[in-house]
Amino acid sequence: SPAPRLDHHTLERYETVWLVISVVMSVLLFTGVVVSFISGTYQAVRSDGSSAGHHITGVKSGRLDPRSIASTPFAKPGLRENADGSLEAFIVAKAFAFDPAVLRVPAGRPITFHLTSLDVMHGYMVQGTNVNATVIPGQVTSFSVTFREPGTLNSICNEYCGIGHHNMLTRVIVTA
Ligand code: CUA
Repeated sequence: SPAPRLDHHTLERYETVWLVISVVMSVLLFTGVVVSFISGTYQAVRSDGSSAGHHITGVKSGRLDPRSIASTPFAKPGLRENADGSLEAFIVAKAFAFDPAVLRVPAGRPITFHLTSLDVMHGYMVQGTNVNATVIPGQVTSFSVTFREPGTLNSICNEYCGIGHHNMLTRVIVTA
């Protein structure tokens, strides 16, 4: 009889509809998780609760195509002093290293950090401070921090980025 065949087709149509709905829901959920994760990380950078007394202000981010890096200060990563005396640190993350490997900065002066990634998402965390930024390819993460006391601070990638993730170690040397 034709009735079961009709039911079968109707079921197939329902299955397709539910498949589409579940795919859409998954995409929305994934996007939501990523967005909340990123905003949560920026929130963490913005907050100021460091026991070491380092002070972070002014988190922002902008877009930067990795292919355009050659025409930006990221072409020569490291600390630079501007004509007005302000200090900026440009750091490039890639699998599996930071450039520069060691960043030397003076104590007691605000430094605006700018970070970008050449490949995948990395993290930049300076131990003993509340510097904890997500480094995203195609974007620049910026924040300002003043290191109060001289010393050597270990910094790590705290975003799992692949087989060499645990080798992404670097240092910030704060000089008197
Ligand atoms: Cu880079 Cu983990």
